[in-house]
Amino acid sequence: MTKGDPVLVVENLKAYYPSKEGLVRAVDDVSLVVREGECVGLLGESGSGKSSMALAMLGLFERIAKFTAATSNDPDLMKAFAKGIKGETDRPGVQGSVIFRGQQIIGLPQEELVKIRGKQISLIPQGLGHALNPQHSIGHQTAEVLEIHDDNVRLVEMKRKVLEYLGIVQLADADIRFVMDPGTFSGGESQRILIAMALIAGPYMVIADEPTSALDVTMQRQILNVLRMIKEEFGVSLLLISHDAGVVAELADIVAVMYCGKIVESGPAVQMFHNPKHPYTMGLMSSFPTIAMMQMRAGKRPRLRGIPGNPPDLTDVPPGCPFHPRCVYTKEICKTEVPEREEIETDHWIQCHCWQEISEEE
Ligand SMILES: Nc1ncnc2c1ncn2[C@@H]1O[C@H](COP(=O)(O)OP(=O)(O)O)[C@@H](O)[C@H]1O
Ligand code: SF4
Ligand SMILES: [Mg+2]
Repeated sequence: MTKGDPVLVVENLKAYYPSKEGLVRAVDDVSLVVREGECVGLLGESGSGKSSMALAMLGLFERIAKFTAATSNDPDLMKAFAKGIKGETDRPGVQGSVIFRGQQIIGLPQEELVKIRGKQISLIPQGLGHALNPQHSIGHQTAEVLEIHDDNVRLVEMKRKVLEYLGIVQLADADIRFVMDPGTFSGGESQRILIAMALIAGPYMVIADEPTSALDVTMQRQILNVLRMIKEEFGVSLLLISHDAGVVAELADIVAVMYCGKIVESGPAVQMFHNPKHPYTMGLMSSFPTIAMMQMRAGKRPRLRGIPGNPPDLTDVPPGCPFHPRCVYTKEICKTEVPEREEIETDHWIQCHCWQEISEEE
């Protein structure tokens, strides 16, 4: 398969929240590439930093972290965002590089970001609950996305496009129901409306944050089919964020596994599901029955059953490899030195001191 050009190139991205307990290193030195027409699945347990990474890539993280500080009533937290601290590297906020279609996103002023968000890269946010405004009809809210990016769009054209996109996401009776408020739609229907809103301005890339987690199995499948269609028919690049390896397996060409704010392994989906190399990926994959079954069918015996213990608090991440207290292969070096990011095969990256020995043992 020939590879598309990179749409999004993330390098050494860090996004830290201020908190009373210290910095929450939600995204900690992460690098990732998303290519044209490709789906990258970002997989990890809850709290591993996936949503924070999406916010940082869209230029939304700083505002949320600032808001956390401003509403804390804690002068120290507020000071954490004050002048002077900007020069330091271990500080709240975002650092690193996010290049979207050749343009650096980090550090762009909000008025520039507003032109890019929604129009060129859009987000289907996590949690249906707060995503739609209960005060306005879904047609109004979908049209608003168009209006933000084109002041001159005519009313007739706006309505035609809203109905076209609500149709694309297969919202039943859209031509009658577009005047209704969000409260009258089910979870699956709300998710379809959010997908229409993310698509209507014709973005190159969509970030879908846990798009199926609030839905039952039948609805999950339908929403995944809509996402598959936007990838295959519209050629939109997708970053599919999920804690569920089964969901990621449905769509992803590339899988990136996140643990404690780091991408510990990423690579082509087939390799990641059938032959993962990082002990955390191995454990994570074997804890999903559908994936373990896939591995067995490919003649591989899943080595680990689940992962002992819980992920650490992100204000108190263990030194060295953050997975070392839970890893069955831990060596002395793992307790003190953070493993370097290494490309072990084309496009297959890993952060583990011992991956080679572990592979030979298999
Ligand atoms: N506004 C916030 N202020 C402080 N910490 C936060 C905030 N939002 C999320 N976090 C913390 O950041 C870490 C990563 O969270 P998140 O990005 O939501 O992970 P995921 O999407 O993988 O579940 C968690 O430890 C979470 O508690
Ligand atoms: S670096 Fe060490 S502790 Fe971390 S995953 Fe690899 S073997 Fe386990
Ligand atoms: Mg999340």
